[in-house]
Amino acid sequence: MGKELAINGGPKAAGDLGPFPTKIGKKELLELLDLWEMSPETTARIKELIDAETDFKGPHLFRYYNPRPSKVLAAEEAMKKLVGTEYCLATNSCTSALVAAYRALGIGVGDEVIVPAYTFFATSATVVSSNAIPVIVDCDETLCMSADAIEKAITKRTKAVVPVHMRGAPAQMDAIMDVANKHGIPVIEDTAQAAGGSFGGKSLGSIGVMGCFSFDYYKVIVSGEGGFLTTDDKRLYTRALNWHDCAACWRPDRFGPEAEGEELFCGENYRMSELEGAVALAQIKRADEIVSGHRAAKKMIKNAIDDFAGLRFRRIADEKGDTGICLVMFLPNADTAQKVLPALQAEGVPCGGIYDSKVRDWHTYNYWEHILQYKSVASDKLPWSGVPEGELPKYSKDMCPNTLKLLSQAILVDIECNLSDEDCAKISGAINKVLHVYL
Ligand SMILES: Cc1ncc(COP(=O)(O)O)c(C=O)c1O
Repeated sequence: MGKELAINGGPKAAGDLGPFPTKIGKKELLELLDLWEMSPETTARIKELIDAETDFKGPHLFRYYNPRPSKVLAAEEAMKKLVGTEYCLATNSCTSALVAAYRALGIGVGDEVIVPAYTFFATSATVVSSNAIPVIVDCDETLCMSADAIEKAITKRTKAVVPVHMRGAPAQMDAIMDVANKHGIPVIEDTAQAAGGSFGGKSLGSIGVMGCFSFDYYKVIVSGEGGFLTTDDKRLYTRALNWHDCAACWRPDRFGPEAEGEELFCGENYRMSELEGAVALAQIKRADEIVSGHRAAKKMIKNAIDDFAGLRFRRIADEKGDTGICLVMFLPNADTAQKVLPALQAEGVPCGGIYDSKVRDWHTYNYWEHILQYKSVASDKLPWSGVPEGELPKYSKDMCPNTLKLLSQAILVDIECNLSDEDCAKISGAINKVLHVYL
């Protein structure tokens, strides 16, 4: 070996290291294959092919510094098209997207955020973990927060309103936006359960200043875990982006000065992995097909249900914008709902109750003791200590009676997107059979 240093033109002493095995290789791909549960014959054939393959680079599962086109980036682009916003940020969950949205708006100690009494706990828990105070308001027959309830709850501390498009159907966004705009309060749409829905021809998640989507396994379109934040506002997008990546700042000029101002602060890590990005991308491309499948099945089932005195359906704020993932029926009272529910289930109808006063559930405010009892993770007692004595909202288990009454009378029929006409007829037939006995 020559003594001349490589830096001075000599031969490289360690220029031909490797080859190295890929970081993630065949074994990991085979684990993934397991998840798809294919037939043993197909699995064996694919395994054989994978075993025999010698020419592969292995995946790069981190969205940044990625030498290949990023699936997460492609999913963000696809979401922008689906929702119709200028910007989109992929996150590892909707919970993360909500925190990023609150933080992007600068929400913190002493601020209030208006949330509905009926939503998955994440909507309000993230207000508390962002050090702000959730103000919980009643829902109406849309099963979403009502504009009237919002208006009554606005105070000098209100920094955002978060309508939740529950169970795939839009909140009454025209009235909600009117109230919010009148008071100059930004609206964040919790669109966790309603990807692909719309109100007044505008996609859900594009009406308020930001939209937050969940792609966890139980949502309309899914990637196992995952979320997206959509917005038309560059400043909010940049702030959410920074919060989502420990403020390592993937701004166009990463190490540059603050281009828009208010961009440098410490954040967390909510990055989506390329694995989720790939599944999300495929699902976003199928969103129209999935949502139209739900809608067609729901229409067929609903239209075939007979007229019953005492049966009402959930009010859908915009029928055209409903994703159709479920059909909610209101029975005349909670007792009847409790009798009808097991009878429907015994017939094989995929359905459930929404609220039973004896069964705990994270979707109704009266079980959120963490909030109702002003619980805090630390001795600073935040967020509650951030508001002067006597000025905290007065929470109680019965403060939103309309929500509890409606939910206790409700039965929710799950609608799959690939139900055949025959399946739809069986479901509506079973509903008619049972309701003719009980109503
Ligand atoms: C209305 C609503 N908001 C937020 C979330 C949180 O979503 P993720 O599970 O993606 O964090 C959910 C999930 O169930 C939800 O239903």
